[in-house]
Order: sequence, then C-alpha cells, then structure tokens
Amino acid sequence: MRKPIIAGNWKMNKNPKQAEEIVTELIPLVKEANADVVVCVPAVCYSTVANLVKNTNIKLGAQNVHWEVSGAFTGELSADMLKSVGVEYVIIGHSERRQYFGETDRTVNLRVKAAVNAGLIPIICVGESKMERENNYTNALVSYQTLIALKGLTNDQIKNCVIAYEPVWAIGTGLVATDEQANETIGVIRKAINDNYGKDVADAVRIQYGGSMNPSNVKGLMAQPEIDGGLIGGASLKAQDFSKVVCFDK
Ligand code: 13P
Repeated sequence: MRKPIIAGNWKMNKNPKQAEEIVTELIPLVKEANADVVVCVPAVCYSTVANLVKNTNIKLGAQNVHWEVSGAFTGELSADMLKSVGVEYVIIGHSERRQYFGETDRTVNLRVKAAVNAGLIPIICVGESKMERENNYTNALVSYQTLIALKGLTNDQIKNCVIAYEPVWAIGTGLVATDEQANETIGVIRKAINDNYGKDVADAVRIQYGGSMNPSNVKGLMAQPEIDGGLIGGASLKAQDFSKVVCFDK
C-alpha cells in the first residue's frame, strides 16, 4: 500500500513572519495525520520553517532546484544548498515554471537527476492544458512528460519519486478534474511507468492530483484507487484548510 502524501505549494506567497504563523498553527492540527505532510515554501522561509518543523511530522519542500552543484547561475539554488537548510522535497516542472520561466522536459529531467542524486525527493509535475485535453492529447502528453522526467534514474530512485498530475486548466481556477478524470489520467501515468520500468516500480511510485483540491473535494479524489495524494495551492495558504485536506480520512 502506498502511503498518501499531501504537499502544500505556497507558490510566491508568505514572508517568514507569515510562514511562522501558519506553520505554528498547522503543527498541532496535522500531528495525527495518516499522510506524509510537506510544505513547499518560498526560499526566504526555508530556515524559519525548517526550525519550526524539526521533530514534527511536517517536512520542508522547495519549489525549484538548479541542476548544477555551483557556479555562475544568478538567482538559482543547488540541491546541496537546499539540503543544507533542511529541505527534503522539491517541486520540479510545475506548469507555472513551464509556462512563465521556460522550463522544458529536458530541464525538468536535469533538475530531477540533480535532486535525486543529492538525496532530495522530487515532486515532478505533469499535466495538460485545456486545448490538449479537448484534442485528446492528454494521455500521450502526460506519459511523455513523465518518462522524460525520469530518464536516467534507477528503478529504486524512481520508486522514491513523487509525481503530481496537475491539469493546467484546473490550477487556481476553481475547476477541478472529476474524481474519475483524475483517476483515469493518473492510471495512464502509472501504466507508462509500468510499461517502461515494471510493475514493482509502478506500484511503488506515489502520484498526486493537483488543481483546485480543497477540503470539500479531497475525500472524493482520495477515494480513487490511483490517487495517492494531493499538491495543494490556494488551500494550503490557510492552516485550517490545509489541515482538513491533510486529514481527509478523519
Ligand atoms: P491550486 O490548488 O491553487 O489550484 O494550485 C494547484 C497547484 O498548482 C499546486 O501546485
């Protein structure tokens, strides 16, 4: 059985003081969670949040990582740098980075390899636009995005990765994929992994749904057999809301 994993993606929200408030409120609310709990925060909040979540069941995540170890890459952070301040997870290839910052499947793969080799757990985002869904490209696209992202990893490394299926049309729009749509597409991603890396790898990889997931729709989504968790944007910005998503089974 795969353990559910619920991750908050704060995106470009919250300064360290606000981070302290929300995480302090969150800690007691999620301490009995049956899911792994991650908060992916802006870089300015890493040390504040790392100190607060020490000895709790909340893990610290980042929202991007560069693939080189060091060098002339203004504005970037390496996997070792993230590790050194207590980061354990890192979102890679979010659609906002693909859309606004020139992220490609090739750079996603470089980042994933760097993260894994440094001992970080990547949360690899894949997903289709509205146009791609309407033209029936979804299955081919998410399979391709997934396989390119994982290229060059060993089977054991892949088992430890997390994939987030985030239909672009559902992000921040209030539109959520139906339980069945999300389950079906995550099944497609798992099949692509199965066909290329075998059943034991496909059975181990945790695949989240992301896109307007919130306290009112989490139960239905999590009841689906293929869905192993969620990557939560807007609803992760309030401790009460995020804790209800994390504790979906209570
Ligand atoms: P929303 O939950 O705000 O739709 O964002 C989803 C997301 O992009 C998480 O990475």
